[in-house]
Amino acid sequence: MAIRSKLVAGNWKMHGGTIQNRELLNAIIAGTEELGEGGVAVFVPYPYLSQSQSILQKTHVSWGAQNVSQHDKGAYTGEVSAAMLMDFGCRYVIIGHSERRALYGEDSRTVALKFKAAQAAGLIPVLCIGETLDQREAVITEQVVAEQLDTVIELVGINALADSVLAYEPVWAIGTGKTATPEQAQDVHGFIRDRIAASNPEVAAELKVLYGGSVKASNAAELFAMPDIDGGLIGGASLIADEFIAICNAAR
Ligand code: G3P
Repeated sequence: MAIRSKLVAGNWKMHGGTIQNRELLNAIIAGTEELGEGGVAVFVPYPYLSQSQSILQKTHVSWGAQNVSQHDKGAYTGEVSAAMLMDFGCRYVIIGHSERRALYGEDSRTVALKFKAAQAAGLIPVLCIGETLDQREAVITEQVVAEQLDTVIELVGINALADSVLAYEPVWAIGTGKTATPEQAQDVHGFIRDRIAASNPEVAAELKVLYGGSVKASNAAELFAMPDIDGGLIGGASLIADEFIAICNAAR
């Protein structure tokens, strides 16, 4: 079985400020040094990419953006291209976060096009998939997650997943304090990995699948101990230095 290294990434969402960012980023650098290269990342709002690059370059902490256009250039007012993110040293970009899907109407096809554009520019997409509470209660979680994943695979092919990260984020656990139990999360992570393995066992074995949804220092270790959970995508807790550092260190 492949030994996958863990990744803990902080999704700041629409939070931050130049002074608080500097304090938070320097604390994260100092508090997670033992995790080494590739173990920690932060996803900051677009205006803070330059500051993140200047503070984080030459450290073990990677950075990225929370969204990207599916277009490479043109008359798309307010949009940001993957090439522009590369200009600021981004390693990753979050694609298809449930808040983009719910609040900004991003359907699975749009998400797949963004995934393709991100990879074409050299970014590692972090593809977010997950069900709503209604869908879980209707017992269609696997159907929902499969559709979100398959739409990307149909566009880019199964092998493209090798250069990506997945994040299972049950919508009902995001920002609610209602974390999926380790068993609930493992069930879906295992389903995702098995579905990919049916087409390409090597990609499935190597692919990082993160869990996101109310991860805290108090629950991170039990989640990360699950065989198919390869780290976390952290929202609220990533804005609190000690909490995020503790979550990162739970992944060691
Ligand atoms: O992208 C991660 C985020 O959706 C999780 O948010 O606040 O539940 O950790 P939170």
